[in-house]
This record gives sequence, structure tokens and C-alpha cells, in this order.
Amino acid sequence: MRKHAKIGVMAGIAVLFGIGLLLPLGQAAEMTKDLAVKYILATAKAARTVYVKGVIQKAKKGGVMPKENWVKADHAIMLPAQFVKAIGAEIRDFELTLIGTYPLYKSNAPKTDKEKEMLEKLSVGKAKMVTFEDGNQFKGMSADFAIVQGCADCHNTHPKAVKKDFKKGDFMGAIIVRMKN
Ligand code: HEC
Repeated sequence: MRKHAKIGVMAGIAVLFGIGLLLPLGQAAEMTKDLAVKYILATAKAARTVYVKGVIQKAKKGGVMPKENWVKADHAIMLPAQFVKAIGAEIRDFELTLIGTYPLYKSNAPKTDKEKEMLEKLSVGKAKMVTFEDGNQFKGMSADFAIVQGCADCHNTHPKAVKKDFKKGDFMGAIIVRMKN
């Protein structure tokens, strides 16, 4: 009997030790994912800024314009949004794309209620960047604003526009990362 009690206590200690070890490990994994998503968002944003400031501005001077149908148009290169989506299309391990409250295309609409809720949180200025669990995925969004009037103008006059009164400074959507949880 005493022997059994001893084994019981040892088993209990082992289980507690196991739980004690697993909890911080779980937390560490969560933190790593959180950081990874934040770094990816920051890098994607930086790449787009370089594309806008470094490539588009220079190309415009040479008469090459950013156009949505750039593949078919002469003297045209992709839009910044298409640039981000094109990078995302090259990635297999996670999803990198754009999302909007009034998206021009359905593919840019929030995919879940949680995404809608987080987009709303960004739109009212409660945060610039959010990370969150959503079903079996871990996601992050970085807010996107009409930093120049050109953002608003093009979106307002696009044939697929549902909102036609964007102004400079308005919240337009976000860069989004979706990865396996
Ligand atoms: C010349 C037109 C044009 C300009 C300028 C432009 N966009 Fe867009 N934007 C688009 C198009 C077209 C899409 C959809 C691309 C796609 O999904 O293939 C898009 C997509 C987006 C999306 C994804 C949600 C949606 O509406 O579909 C966001 C967010 C966005 N743009 C923000 C911006 C911001 C911020 C700027 C300025 C820095 C900007 N755009 C400048 C045409 C433009």
C-alpha cells in the first residue's frame, strides 16, 4: 500500500512538472508566432514603401505608370496593392495579402467574423497593428491609410468601387498575414 502511495505521489509530481513545463512552452510558441507575424507585416509594408517611393516614382518620370492592367498595357507596372499580393502569391508557408472594409474585389473582403471585428478595431484607430487567433489560424493585420490623395482618388473612381468618398488620411484596410496555428 505504501509503495503504491509513493508511486502515486511520484506520478503526481511528474504530471505537475509536465504541465509546468508545457505551459511556458505553449506561451513561448505563442510569442514566437506573434513576433513572426509582426516582422512579416513590417517587412511587407517596407517592401511596398520601397516599391512606391523607389520604383513607381522613378518610373513615372520615365513615362511608365502604375496601372491595374499593367500586364497588357504598354509602359505600365503593377499597382502597390498588386505588388503586395504578388509577393504573397510566391509564398507557400503562409498567406500574405490585403484586406479592406470596402474591398474592390471579393478576394480582399474579411473572411471571418473575427477578421471583420479586428478590421473595425483598426479602422477606429484603437490599434495600428493587431495579432489574433482565429479558428485554426494565427493572424496579423497592419492598418493601411490613404497617405496620399491618389490612394483615395483611384479607389473612389474604380469601376468596382462601393465607397466613393475616400479622403486623404482615411483608413482603407490592412495588410494581412494568415498562418497555421
Ligand atoms: C491607380 C489605382 C490605385 C491606387 C493609386 C491605389 N490603389 Fe489600392 N487598390 C487598387 C486596386 C485595383 C486594388 C485591388 C487589387 C487586387 O486585389 O488585385 C487595390 C486594393 C487595395 C486594398 C485592398 C482592399 C481593397 O480595397 O480591395 C487596400 C487596403 C488598398 N488598395 C489601399 C491603398 C492605399 C493605402 C493606397 C495609397 C498608398 C492605394 N491603395 C492606392 C487600386 C489603387
